[in-house]
Amino acid sequence: MIICSCNVISDGEIKRALDELKEEFPQLTITPDLIFKSLGRQPKCGSCITGITKIMREQDTWIL
Ligand code: FES
Repeated sequence: MIICSCNVISDGEIKRALDELKEEFPQLTITPDLIFKSLGRQPKCGSCITGITKIMREQDTWIL
């Protein structure tokens, strides 16, 4: 399912980015902006942030 329509980012891509960030940087506080950066994209309209934070909560990722 596409979560970010501006950048065509799916929920699967977000989950994979979260897993990779958590594995590579276990002490790092992960933010939606960091997920965009790890995917090589930038937020545009921002309407997907709610969907991204929902996935982060489902994946037990702490959110600031
Ligand atoms: S939907 Fe993600 S930046 Fe617009």
